[in-house]
Amino acid sequence: MPSTGSLLRSLVCRACCGEVDPEVLRGVCPTCGQTLFAEYDLDRLDARSWWRDVRGREPTLWKYREILPVRDAGAIVTLGEPEGPLLRLRAGAEVEGIELWAKDDGGLPTGSFKARGMTVAVSRARELGAQRLFAPSAGNAGLALAAYGARAGLPVAVYLPEAADPRTVEAVERYGASVVRSGATIREAGEEGRRREAGRGFEMSTLREPYRVEGKKTMGLEIAERLGPDRLPDAIVYPTGGGTGLVGLWKGFDELRRLGLVDRLPRLIAVQSEGCAPVVRALRDGAPKVTPWENVLTSAPGLAVPAPFSSERVLEAVRATGGTGVAVPDDALATARRSLAREQGLSVSPEAAAPWAALPQLLRTGALREGERVVLYLTGRGAG
Ligand SMILES: Cc1ncc(COP(=O)(O)O)c(C=O)c1O
Ligand SMILES: [Zn+2]
Repeated sequence: MPSTGSLLRSLVCRACCGEVDPEVLRGVCPTCGQTLFAEYDLDRLDARSWWRDVRGREPTLWKYREILPVRDAGAIVTLGEPEGPLLRLRAGAEVEGIELWAKDDGGLPTGSFKARGMTVAVSRARELGAQRLFAPSAGNAGLALAAYGARAGLPVAVYLPEAADPRTVEAVERYGASVVRSGATIREAGEEGRRREAGRGFEMSTLREPYRVEGKKTMGLEIAERLGPDRLPDAIVYPTGGGTGLVGLWKGFDELRRLGLVDRLPRLIAVQSEGCAPVVRALRDGAPKVTPWENVLTSAPGLAVPAPFSSERVLEAVRATGGTGVAVPDDALATARRSLAREQGLSVSPEAAAPWAALPQLLRTGALREGERVVLYLTGRGAG
């Protein structure tokens, strides 16, 4: 089979500094149970000519294959993941002086950025011999897993909270995946999944396997490619649930920095709903990890993650870039969603409206400053 040229070298745990063989199908660190991250032999890449090369390749995220983990090109499970367009926003008077962009991932397969993580993680799981995949989900991750699982010919089980939208259940089942509804939030759904799947399914939850974050790092690579490595945004505003998106953005930019292609990282700004803001609270309190949020109450299912796994890594990603966190009133999401559609022609999911909802507060508090270039990450599309 043709090789992808992947420079994957090992899996490392940032919590205990352990290093393990990446050719074994594995979820978390065997020593301490925390997230494993892919490391590449970046010094074997002639960075500048690689970067030029990448720009001429077929426009899917697999063009970055040397710094993705799949080795065998025949193992790639793809639905043709196109680049999310980067659009200059027409900003109103309240954001005058800011060069405002939106990156819209609504056009990816199954309608959200979750496709990025799943195309990579499902491909790698299949390459390493996984026979059955499962994950808890608020909806979008489950949809993406079901679609890529179907494409791979692997059975999939998705564990959704009891209150999951019946349309989501129906859409996941349409791909042939089985759906179990359990518990109030993704946290309980995940516990149920781990109980039921023990010894048979491979878990694909956020940060509990090493490779979804590899797919998500392509969000950062695409931004660098589109704006140019020397015109990176000053800040990226990101709707945060489990936090892999933030970790992925950070990892993507950090690898470009280690390759000598960029010399600074955009500040990552986590946006959550006031109805579930454990990451924002931990950032504000200077805490090393998140304490679980009680009484989750938000209209955005993807933001309803009371206790993100490996939250230390999520907080680290924000802090390492000099970023911050902000919570918006939950009803501001619906208002922002409407105004994004009416004023910009962008119909997004409730989660994806959060960065737009956060703008006034970010400007008022000085988290965003005049003259800056800012990307709002629109993670998924609205129905219809
Ligand atoms: C549309 C959308 N945006 C954002 C998120 C949160 O993403 P992350 O888990 O990477 O923080 C989700 C998660 O379900 C989502 O579906
Ligand atoms: Zn470890």
